[in-house]
Amino acid sequence: MPTPRTLLLTGAAGGLGTLMRSLLPAYGYELRLFDVRPVEGEPDAITADLSDKEALREAVRGVDAVLHLAGISLEAPFEKILRSNIEGTYNLYEAAREAGVPRIVFASSNHAVGYTPAPRAGDPLIPVDTPHRPDTFYGLSKSFGEDLAQLYWDRHGLETVSVRIGSCFAEPTDVRMLSVWMSPADGARLFHAALTAEEVGHTVVYGSSANTRLWWDLTGARALGYEPQDDSEQYADKLIAEHGELDPENPAHTHLGGRFVNDPPIWPY
Ligand SMILES: NC(=O)c1ccc[n+]([C@@H]2O[C@H](COP(=O)([O-])OP(=O)(O)OC[C@H]3O[C@@H](n4cnc5c(N)ncnc54)[C@H](O)[C@@H]3O)[C@@H](O)[C@H]2O)c1
Repeated sequence: MPTPRTLLLTGAAGGLGTLMRSLLPAYGYELRLFDVRPVEGEPDAITADLSDKEALREAVRGVDAVLHLAGISLEAPFEKILRSNIEGTYNLYEAAREAGVPRIVFASSNHAVGYTPAPRAGDPLIPVDTPHRPDTFYGLSKSFGEDLAQLYWDRHGLETVSVRIGSCFAEPTDVRMLSVWMSPADGARLFHAALTAEEVGHTVVYGSSANTRLWWDLTGARALGYEPQDDSEQYADKLIAEHGELDPENPAHTHLGGRFVNDPPIWPY
């Protein structure tokens, strides 16, 4: 598929949205920005909540694709997750379906499968079709988003790539992240591949760099044309000196979801 010209970027004020605002235009996208918070330095950004169906209808009008990053990105009371992540994602899909938008790239998460035990040395990597094992209401909302995407493909022919993002930050900051880190540059490469690959139907992939200590299988992401260039291993000595090796007795070190399985960080708003 040729590069979609106009891309709606939801969650544009967030951490990942800010990274992608700077990286994606180089791939040829013209971005339309959407967030409930104002986007700094972007007076044309649409400031609206995902519960505002009219604003979403306006936002999707004429776009060639959507990169859906908006939502609560940590654990929160179920009612908040329901509104932003579950109903909000449904509202976006309905608006996209009505407008005939052909493809959405959905920011899913490792927390949809967070209670899956991490592979030990010699074990196979975790496949993409491992059962959902959400570690929080947040993870549950990502499982829902993946199923919603499947429904909209099967029933309406709206394509989605659901990317189970690991940790997309400038650098990994703990030892678990050595296994799940996705560099921002690799993030842009993967989103671009997901937006341009031919005939994806609904495809679920993991999103990370080509880490030496990788926990999951990137075959599906590579099949979209993604060629990761980075590896967290350059940070390993420093992080292990600071934090020690992963503790096999600590559930936060032995499950894909990390501390979300026993001490999830809480959404502050
Ligand atoms: N950053 C990562 O490593 C990572 C890992 C896994 C999944 N994800 C997913 O990627 C997406 C972006 O993550 P992030 O780290 O940038 O999170 P973030 O919290 O920094 O950004 C999320 C943005 O969504 C906006 N938002 C929240 N609720 C909204 C609503 N109801 N209507 C409109 N906008 C709303 C927020 O204002 C915020 O700017 C999220 O969906 C997150 O769950 C991120």
